[in-house]
Amino acid sequence: MQPMLNIAVRAARSAGDLILRSTDAIGHLQVDQKGRNDYASEVDRKAEREIINIIRTAYPDHAILAEESGAHQGNEFVWVIDPLDGTTNFLHGFPQFAVSIALKHKGRLEVAVIYDPLRDELFTAKRGGGAMLNNRRIRVTKQSAMKGALIGTGFPFKTDRHLDAYVGMFKAMTTDSAGIRRAGSAALDLAYVAAGRLDGFWEIGLMEWDMAAGVLLIKEAGGVVTDFSFNDGYLQNGNLIAGNPKMHQVMYKLIEPHVTDSLR
Ligand code: IPD
Ligand code: CA
Ligand code: CA
Ligand code: CA
Repeated sequence: MQPMLNIAVRAARSAGDLILRSTDAIGHLQVDQKGRNDYASEVDRKAEREIINIIRTAYPDHAILAEESGAHQGNEFVWVIDPLDGTTNFLHGFPQFAVSIALKHKGRLEVAVIYDPLRDELFTAKRGGGAMLNNRRIRVTKQSAMKGALIGTGFPFKTDRHLDAYVGMFKAMTTDSAGIRRAGSAALDLAYVAAGRLDGFWEIGLMEWDMAAGVLLIKEAGGVVTDFSFNDGYLQNGNLIAGNPKMHQVMYKLIEPHVTDSLR
């Protein structure tokens, strides 16, 4: 899988450079609204085209699932791409966004890259090969209780459907933790759990491209990821709890009482 990881890195860096070069144009970009609080700019689309070009040149037969252009048919390899995670941040000049690329083979995550172009931080993982930040091994924290824990999350800002459930979870999480962070890029939040910068993370209603790379990073860094039923359906249902093994348990217990049937 190393050659495929190399291609993912090349694509993520190239898209990251393109995004950085575009920051001067913020405010003048063409931006389309896809739904409530859901936008795609010409930078999202250009970055995605750049990534797909690099992958398709190296692997013309592989399939692709990308946020802005959807599914491209191919063989049993599927590249899952979020060209710009944290579009709202990017459009406001708020410095927290990333490129996220994962490769699945027959449904199993094999390769992951999350690239933060502003800090030049490259998070990479290969199944069975550990997780790295700029080629140095990273691991989840050893935190074992809510007291003193720093927890990441994302707010359900695109719909009110699960707002009450989320507020219940949020209350339970804020009571004992050292703090909650909502930085605005789920991919980076997950990379930060892998790197031990956050002790845990949860969010409702994510898409596969927000999560795929981050999930492999966390697993390869010694962490645990489940959905709200303690299963591995998160890539399908979008609801995810992640942390080191102990914090995952602690968070699961706090979240579980607020989980409604439609969140399982
Ligand atoms: C969004 C970010 C955000 C999360 C949203 C995602 P996008 O991705 O990851 O943190 O809360 O659910 O949609 O649209 O900026 O790629
Ligand atoms: Ca988006
Ligand atoms: Ca995203
Ligand atoms: Ca995106």
